[in-house]
Amino acid sequence: MLELHQVEVAYNKTATAIRGVSLNVAPGKITALLGTNGAGKTTTLTAISGFLGLENAEVVGGEIIYDGKRIDRLPPHKVSRLGIALVPERDKVFDTLTVADNIKITARTPARVQEAYAEFPRLGELSGRTAGYLSGGEKQLLALAMALLTEPDVLLVDELSLGLAPRVTADLLGELQRVQRARGLTVLLVEQNAAAALRVADYGYVMEDGRVVHDGTPEALLSHGDIMEFYLGIAEGDGMHRSYRDVKQYRRKRRWAG
Ligand SMILES: Nc1ncnc2c1ncn2[C@@H]1O[C@H](COP(=O)(O)OP(=O)(O)OP(=O)(O)O)[C@@H](O)[C@H]1O
Ligand SMILES: [Mg+2]
Repeated sequence: MLELHQVEVAYNKTATAIRGVSLNVAPGKITALLGTNGAGKTTTLTAISGFLGLENAEVVGGEIIYDGKRIDRLPPHKVSRLGIALVPERDKVFDTLTVADNIKITARTPARVQEAYAEFPRLGELSGRTAGYLSGGEKQLLALAMALLTEPDVLLVDELSLGLAPRVTADLLGELQRVQRARGLTVLLVEQNAAAALRVADYGYVMEDGRVVHDGTPEALLSHGDIMEFYLGIAEGDGMHRSYRDVKQYRRKRRWAG
């Protein structure tokens, strides 16, 4: 349904941020896109949503296909009209407005406003609050609800966990999964918190240095100790075995390289 074939993106006509990313985002499922800082996760989502132009970037190779049509040359409003919505990494809500007004200006009809409160009752309790003063988790919930107000078929979610405690992250991803199942949504979920993402995902891709280096079911990825340690930063057991030193050397090398 949504496929990326060998997609390459360059910023400022030169710096190549992703170099040949191929993904299959299965309909009605949650696909996780994991990887460390600077791996190219946000760039990949920005390429799909059509917002690269705002960053002085462009797709310079490969193709993005949605429902059989190429979308990598489309402006953001056309991508959005096809039913693809983005919950961006930053600036997701209008900070100076109340929760109620954020919802009202995003919803196309009053009925949708009521649906949003029915889907996320917590937002009803917060409706009079100024969005800028919400807690991190509350703000993310509002951002999620606002993206869902456009009734997308595909939801692209960038780092819901940014700056949140693990418990709050788990709760939010649980909410996302609940709505995804209820609506039959297709979700591409970018997360640095791999453990939390793999708990709700049906399939996962791991990126490193602008490339996909691994993919598999959550079970397969979680059972692969090296992937967990090298790419996802999840330590396996006690760290006494041989690979512990290798991991540290690997990280050191990355620091010099980066
Ligand atoms: N606006 C920009 N201009 C130039 N280079 C950029 C820009 N945004 C990102 N990059 C570069 O593109 C590469 C991929 O960055 P990207 O933000 O996609 O990574 P990420 O996986 O989302 O990282 P993080 O987990 O930190 O959010 C990095 O090398 C980054 O420095
Ligand atoms: Mg990012």
